[in-house]
Parts: sequence; structure tokens; C-alpha cells
Amino acid sequence: MKKLISILLVALMVFAVAGCGNNNGGGEQPKDDVKTYEVGVAIYKFDDNFMTLYRNEIVNYFKTLETDTVKYNVEVVDSKNDMAEQSNQIDTFITQGKDVIILNLVQTSSADAIIDKVVAAEIPLVLINREPLGPNGDESYEGITKNPTVCYVGADARQSGTYQGEIVAELDNHGDINGDGKISYIMIIGDPENPDAQYRTEYSIKALTDAGYEVEELLAQVGNWDQAKGNEICAAALSQFGEQIEVVFCNNDAMALGAAAAITAAGRKVGEDIYLLGVDALDECQQMVKNGEMTGTVLNDHVGQSHTAVDVAVKALNGEAMNNYYWVDYVKVK
Ligand code: BGC
Repeated sequence: MKKLISILLVALMVFAVAGCGNNNGGGEQPKDDVKTYEVGVAIYKFDDNFMTLYRNEIVNYFKTLETDTVKYNVEVVDSKNDMAEQSNQIDTFITQGKDVIILNLVQTSSADAIIDKVVAAEIPLVLINREPLGPNGDESYEGITKNPTVCYVGADARQSGTYQGEIVAELDNHGDINGDGKISYIMIIGDPENPDAQYRTEYSIKALTDAGYEVEELLAQVGNWDQAKGNEICAAALSQFGEQIEVVFCNNDAMALGAAAAITAAGRKVGEDIYLLGVDALDECQQMVKNGEMTGTVLNDHVGQSHTAVDVAVKALNGEAMNNYYWVDYVKVK
């Protein structure tokens, strides 16, 4: 009897241990099936209103694409407007073996050096916001067209400039407040190395001259996308040119916010004795357009752009082919 009991006990223990083993195996099974992709994102600088919205949306959108079995570990780094720092950050991403890199270049002149090393490391690369242009100033950049794992996601800045000019052309007086037959303006420019700044500067005025209006440039000055600089430049221009200034064009909304404060401080009134234009359609500026404190802005669709960039990155992670260029439209806000 004793023997039978001990045999039964042993059998019970063996069963229990085997059962436990099975449970463990079952519990761990899903974990083994989870695939976590390592994503590196480098932003030219964190201290930029528009790129802050953009980078936050990249992170949020990756989260929404996660499933029980697919995760995205997204690391976003601040390149602090320093190309050498950004180049080191890309080296680190490569050493860490990131599965895909999303890059907002500090300087397009360094695009080749960065593209070469990322391609050599066989990591797909999605360039955003700052477009390296081809030799004819167009979308024929060899680093992009010759490399199937490199692409650019952006908005065509010519369109945003054109829309700014059109908003002025569509005003009853077409921006000619004093009726002297010409539109006298100042232009507050973003980072001059950035095609967004170059195109907006050129195409806003081209839209007016193409429509047959005469223009007079009183001043064009670099404000580097920065609100405080926009304020400084506009304040100085208002005291130098006074009522001669009819239109203030800013390449982005941050600088327009600075300009708006300078306009108020100078006792001028948007919509009555001066017009003010920006680009980005930051929430604050959309509100100002509604209130009449800004004449107009142009939506730079950070949601559309960030989602496209992430969708393309996910395509690349799935081994699917990507196009060279992806475009997201601007929208007039007036
Ligand atoms: C935006 C600016 C931003 C810049 C950064 C532009 O497209 O309009 O607000 O500062 O991108 O590169």
C-alpha cells in the first residue's frame, strides 16, 4: 500500500511539473511572436514650433499602428541645429542597428554624406521637411533618385508661396492700401539654406507679378524661422519705412507671430493699414486669421506629412518598395 501511494505521489508530481511546463510555454508563446522595430528619428532642432507638432505626431501615429505582435520603439533626437551633431547621431543610429531612420536634415548640403552612410548600412531612410534639391533646383536629387531605399516626404513650398501671393491678390485693394499702383512689402525669410524659405520668398511675389500687379520690395531679411527675429526685423522695418509698408510676408507663422506683436506695438492695424501673411497655420495663427489679426496663412499639413513619413517607413520595414518622392498639399487659410 505504502509503495502504491509513493508511486501515485511520484506520478502526480511528474504530471504537475509537466503541466506547469506546458502552462509556461503557452504563456511565453505570444512574447516570442512580438516583433519590435527600432526607429531612429532626428529633428533639425526641437526648438521650432512647426517641427514640434510634426515630431509629436510621428510618435503618436507610430503608437496607433502598434498591434499585439508589432511594436515600434521610436527614439527621437534633437540635432540642435548642428550638422556635426546630427551626423554623430546618425552614426549612433547605425551602430544601434536601427531598422529605419526618419531624418529632418540640419543642412541639405550634407545630404550626400548622410545618405551614403545610411545606404551602406542598409537602413531605409525617409527624409522629411528639408528637401535636398537636384542640380536644376528640382526633384532630381541623385541621392534620392538613385537609391531605392531613400525617399523624401514633404510639401511643395512653391505652392505655399503662391497661396500667400494669391491671398493678397484676392483682397479688394490687392494689397495696395495707399493706391499708388504698387504693393510695397517687406519679406521676412526663414533659413535661407532651406528650399521652403527660398520658394516661399520667390513664389509669393511671383503670384502677384504673374497676376499683373506691380510690387516694390522695401526690405528682405533673414529671420531663420524664429519668432523673436521676426519681431525684431518687423519692428525695425516699421520704424524705418513707416506707412510705406503695406504687406508683411513671413516665410512661416512663428515669424508672423513676432511681426504681429511689432505691428501692434507700432500702432498699426492688420486689415486696415497693413496686411500680414504667414505659413504653417499654427492653431494660434488660424485663430488670428479668424479675428482679423492676420490676413492669412497657409496650412503646412504636419499631420499629413508625418503620417505619410511613418506609412512609408512602415512599408520599408515590411520590405515593400518605396517611391522617390511623396507630396502633401498645402491649404490656403484666409
Ligand atoms: C516650416 C517652418 C519650420 C521649417 C523647419 C518649414 O516648412 O514652415 O515653420 O521652421 O519648416 O525646417
